[in-house]
Amino acid sequence: MNSSEIIIFGEDAFHGMRDAGKLARSVLDFIEPYIKEGITTDEINTLCHDFIIKNNAIPAPLNYNGFPKSVCTSVNDVVCHGIPGMYKLKDGDIINIDITVILNGWYGDTSRTFLVGNCTPLARNLIETTKRAMYVGIDAVKIGGHIGDIGKAIQKYISTTPYSIVRDYGGHGIGNFFHGEPFVAHYDIGTIGAEIKPGMFFTIEPMINAGKYKCKVLKDGWTAVTVDKSLSAQFEHTVAITENGIEVLTA
Ligand code: MF3
Ligand code: CO
Ligand code: CO
Repeated sequence: MNSSEIIIFGEDAFHGMRDAGKLARSVLDFIEPYIKEGITTDEINTLCHDFIIKNNAIPAPLNYNGFPKSVCTSVNDVVCHGIPGMYKLKDGDIINIDITVILNGWYGDTSRTFLVGNCTPLARNLIETTKRAMYVGIDAVKIGGHIGDIGKAIQKYISTTPYSIVRDYGGHGIGNFFHGEPFVAHYDIGTIGAEIKPGMFFTIEPMINAGKYKCKVLKDGWTAVTVDKSLSAQFEHTVAITENGIEVLTA
């Protein structure tokens, strides 16, 4: 289920979205201790799936536009939408786990990139930089400002690093649907886009590459990788706009 216009939600929606956001975040906390050398991405998928079901929720990715699994697992040069499978994590890998739950009809969407064992200084720095990029984006959100302010702030920050910002994927409106307006670019498209108003829900989820920004999708139709095979990291929060400004629902 998706939406092609920006929806301004009311009070009931905030309660539902806060609960969905908390659950999505708790799935990441639950899975973190399992992220070790030797576990397969499919085992991670099953653990998350069962946790979500036990909490009376539904994993949104499963069967979404034909996606075959319950979470996305994106390792090393995979930018996003990695499909869990038989790959065993090895020492030095980085892995993004992207969780989206549907709880009582409301969607919570969040991801983090984890280190597996001993990672290179580059991998560690890329992850820290990407997390900071997400917070720079969050801090750029102001009532009366524009969605374009987010990517503008992130690009200002990333331009001080050797890294690049993925352009093919962005954040999105969310609510009682998975993906809708507004599209949230993480690079500078100017101070444009929709005006930020109370009652909006959207995600901020920058993907940062150690090399060039270009991506391609593998033959499975989902897995997005960097063309130059460089490492890619991502962090994602779902946020709400209230009368007081931004509230991070998945924090
Ligand atoms: N959770 C992803 C996002 O942040 C979307 C995954 S779609 C899927 O928007 F089909 F790949 F699961
Ligand atoms: Co998202
Ligand atoms: Co996500």
